[in-house]
Amino acid sequence: MPSYAYYKKKIIPLEEARMGVMTHAFHYGTGIFEGIRGNWNCGKEQIYLFRLKEHYERMLEGCHALRINLPHSSSELCQITVEMVRECGFREDIYVRPVAYKSSEALGVRLHGLEDDFLVFAFPWGPYLDVETARCAVSSWRRPKETPQGKINGLYVNAALAKTEAIENGFDEAIMLTPDGYVAEGSGENIFLVREGKLITPATYDYILKGITRDSVMKLAKNELHVETVERHIERGELYSAEEVFLTGTAANITPVGEIDRRKIGDGGIGKLTKKLQQLYAEVIQGKKSQYMEWCTPVYQK
Ligand SMILES: Cc1ncc(COP(=O)(O)O)c(C=O)c1O
Repeated sequence: MPSYAYYKKKIIPLEEARMGVMTHAFHYGTGIFEGIRGNWNCGKEQIYLFRLKEHYERMLEGCHALRINLPHSSSELCQITVEMVRECGFREDIYVRPVAYKSSEALGVRLHGLEDDFLVFAFPWGPYLDVETARCAVSSWRRPKETPQGKINGLYVNAALAKTEAIENGFDEAIMLTPDGYVAEGSGENIFLVREGKLITPATYDYILKGITRDSVMKLAKNELHVETVERHIERGELYSAEEVFLTGTAANITPVGEIDRRKIGDGGIGKLTKKLQQLYAEVIQGKKSQYMEWCTPVYQK
């Protein structure tokens, strides 16, 4: 199945979407991207894009900070995305990658006086952390402080350093601390702990990305399981004594953590609450829960 891209205002085959070596965003990280999942529902023969609008709203918030002006509202970006994904004709789980960026072929570090552009493409993508339970390590690389909200391209260099450090040391994922030493997030996921039956997650003041999966999990836990989430500072040591730990992200969905810094979490398997949330979340993203259909945008016209 061919992949397509929306690039320079047209839907074209992905391999034809190419940009110049002087493109500003390539040199200085002056772009903002999103990651959106499209989940295949076999019974309904449909792909549902999960919380599409919220992803574009977050992207546009970041665009404002990076002074990227797009000629599109979030609704128009949703429409462009649906049309591009429909053109691909996929019948499996996919990942959608929009990028808004400084597109001028001009060098010099700045944000002003440059052209902006938007592109989006899609490709089939299965589980990101393809493990039943992840083995994690606290990274020596820290989550940068005082950055605008959103998935800003240039900011991901620390995440890449942390991820490779973790993989090369034999782990599946890195957990990054804040510059003050509190738990922040994974290289591409938010983190939750379970203690005494309650969910705990780093608060937004701990420089985390305000994850859309994080928000969905908090809402599902509250509405469906009557479990509240406490958002607060988390000390590194609390990770080791948690009953359960899991990571959340568009790519990773809900990934249970079985080990951190070579210490078992619980019995090292999938925790009870994690399992319930994982099952619930899987149903919701595949458009199998009627009360959450407003989070699911269908791609194919029936
Ligand atoms: C650094 C970081 N934290 C958290 C997340 C999770 O965010 P979301 O659930 O919106 O995908 C991501 C992935 O997008 C990420 O890159």
